[in-house]
Amino acid sequence: MNKDIFNNQLKTMKNYIMFEIKARQNELTPELKAKNRAPIALSMGAPVEPVPDFVKEKTMEYLNIDSLHTYSTPKGEARFLNACATYMKNRFNVEIEPKTQVCSLIGSKEGICHMIKALVNPCENDTILIPAPGYASYSQMIKSSGAVAYGIDLNEKNNFMPDLNEVLNKYKKEGHDVKKIKALIINYPNNPLGCTCTKEYLQHCVDFCNKLGILLISDNAYCDMYYEPEYKPHSALECKGAMDCCIEMYSFSKTYAMTGWRMGWACGNKDAVMMLSRMKSTVDTGIFKVLQYAGADILESPEGEKYTQEQNEKFKNKLKRFTKGLNSLGYNVKMPKATFYLWVEIPKRFKDCVEFANQLLEKSGVVIVPGTAFDERALRYCRLSVVASDNDLDTVIERMRKDGFEY
Ligand SMILES: Cc1ncc(COP(=O)(O)O)c(C=O)c1O
Repeated sequence: MNKDIFNNQLKTMKNYIMFEIKARQNELTPELKAKNRAPIALSMGAPVEPVPDFVKEKTMEYLNIDSLHTYSTPKGEARFLNACATYMKNRFNVEIEPKTQVCSLIGSKEGICHMIKALVNPCENDTILIPAPGYASYSQMIKSSGAVAYGIDLNEKNNFMPDLNEVLNKYKKEGHDVKKIKALIINYPNNPLGCTCTKEYLQHCVDFCNKLGILLISDNAYCDMYYEPEYKPHSALECKGAMDCCIEMYSFSKTYAMTGWRMGWACGNKDAVMMLSRMKSTVDTGIFKVLQYAGADILESPEGEKYTQEQNEKFKNKLKRFTKGLNSLGYNVKMPKATFYLWVEIPKRFKDCVEFANQLLEKSGVVIVPGTAFDERALRYCRLSVVASDNDLDTVIERMRKDGFEY
């Protein structure tokens, strides 16, 4: 077969990095086990805790209702959409109309990708602004849709909240056409940096998007994973004018350790929700109704809130313990304000983050992600997901000490 028939953009891309790393881990497992270095995964952002018992019990209950085994719709069941609206009201005091302003998602990854496809005219240099470093999927989704990703630097100097007017000036000076910009993606709390932003900054993003007439895609997948009340994340939809330009993405994956369930929702601007639902209606037929019902229950229940608080306490302790361990090896790592990610500068003797990550895997069985997955310029950083058991985290530090990975 002529290989030219495939999508030009996709042909130049690799498989999503997390799956590549997982495949390499699997390949090396027998060898690593043989030398007492069985793999410990700090790669994917996937909590290993059990999902709330409440969700399991509700799922079993709904499984016995025959009418819940038929097709749903891509937009979602009324029961689910209502629960999303209730959550938005309880958590952020944001009023959402379930019928017109919410759409269910098969995980927020799916929602972001289809939102991008609903915006982009392929191969016309349509541009989406994304955080750099940022979630590795953004640039791949944009590229495979035939659009251009333009990275906005997040760093300590701009306190991880860059002035978007300055960004636009730079963009223009580089000779780009402002009319090509279709959307700005923001992600606070941020993967991989673990930083958050203020409500004032969210207002700045909303004002910027309204001024340019573009869509603000706010990826709020980590909004319930935070460690200090003063950094409790906001919704961009709390801001004045947000309903005119913003769609926000939510996920059950991290909050309730439900990564395998593939559940989330998008909410906000009516036109964006409608176009996303239309795009999805050509691709999927929604989430299994049983899961939607159980998901709705956890969003509305005190059990959900209790679980989240307990999880955050656990992750806070894990992060403290692991940060202390890494710093005892000479690294200079700070506790993140939110998420379970550590963004770690690698020792100078390694050529780059890929070499460091490869050696750490091959010698010590510790699986991490090179920083270049999140920003091609982040050659001196790696991301560590602090999702393993306390025992495994201690083992990682021990192995790094023994195997020559001190800073
Ligand atoms: C920033 C960010 N957004 C979205 C997702 C996708 O989450 P899911 O599709 O499981 O809802 C992830 C997963 O790691 C993420 O880090």
